[in-house]
Amino acid sequence: DEMTPEEREFQERIGRGEKIEPKEWMPEGYRKTLIRQIGQHAHSEIVGQLPEGNWITRAPTLERKAILLAKVQDEAGHGLYLYSAVETLGVSRDELLAMLHSGKMKYSSIFNYPTLNWADIGAVGWLVDGAAIMNQVQLQKTSYGPYSRAMIRICKEESFHQRQGYDIMMKMAFGNPAQKAMAQDALSRFWYPSLMMFGPSDKDSVHSAQSMAWKIKINTNDELRQKFVDQTVPQAKYLGLTIPDENLKWNEDKGGYDFSEPDWSEFFDVIAGNGPCNRERMNARVKAWEDGAWFRDGLVAHAEKTASRRAA
Ligand code: 3HC
Repeated sequence: DEMTPEEREFQERIGRGEKIEPKEWMPEGYRKTLIRQIGQHAHSEIVGQLPEGNWITRAPTLERKAILLAKVQDEAGHGLYLYSAVETLGVSRDELLAMLHSGKMKYSSIFNYPTLNWADIGAVGWLVDGAAIMNQVQLQKTSYGPYSRAMIRICKEESFHQRQGYDIMMKMAFGNPAQKAMAQDALSRFWYPSLMMFGPSDKDSVHSAQSMAWKIKINTNDELRQKFVDQTVPQAKYLGLTIPDENLKWNEDKGGYDFSEPDWSEFFDVIAGNGPCNRERMNARVKAWEDGAWFRDGLVAHAEKTASRRAA
């Protein structure tokens, strides 16, 4: 083959299931793929705060408010672990944020959909966090040490997020007819966008083959999407809600459900920047960055003053 001796040794380490650590040799493509994927993941965590933060002031009870507040704070923490993991690959957080703000880096398609009412917060926890965990459980075994360790921590918190979402859905679905209708409406709107979170179908996934050879990804997009559908259908049934897919049917042979693919043209449109909330999300992130400039300047000034006092 065309591998250099270094590349061959690297691939053998991957084959043995060894973790790759920051200061160790790695192929440039491996580093770039990690920066892209972990960076995109970090951006998703902090952009993902926006649709939920939108409901903190309007949560129906004090208890729900406290829970949602904790969850949204967790997402900020996840962003921080992940930005730290990317920084070990030689890119600063400022550079990453600049690439997010200029549109050079992506974040998850799902956060470009609006949260219109309280049932949507239930659906986001149940479906969006449910899809996120389905993807992240396998990433705990990813070959890059810092990413893998961040994922272990994140998955624990993510399971709590999924449970709180399902708990909201139970309250709504078992509530009065108007509440049940809201729960159904939220499921109907979030179903296909949640399926899109796993990325394009395997035949259109440009990065999967190489990322799996490097064990950056452990499962393909379609494998995880199938597992998510299989896990979610009984949960919807328990709630007495209907998944908006006429083709949804148990397939005995494959031991899983057959289901309709999402509208992939909508997906590609959303990741190209044209989803319902892309501009709103980016404006909010850029404004937060600009509004925080005085604080970052203050921190730097303080650090310089302290350092010069120490030198004197
Ligand atoms: N949203 C936006 N872009 C997406 C996407 C999605 N749901 N799915 C795929 N893409 C993009 C890819 O980034 C790639 O574009 P690029 O070359 O410009 O980067 C293109 O579509 C082709 O897709 P591939 O399948 O080839 O890309 P990947 O191999 O990177 O697979 C992935 C996509 C499965 C999303 C993978 O990157 C991944 O597992 N990422 C880590 C998990 C992650 O980012 N999760 C965010 C979800 S939500 C979250 O974490 C917050 C939670 O707390 C609620």
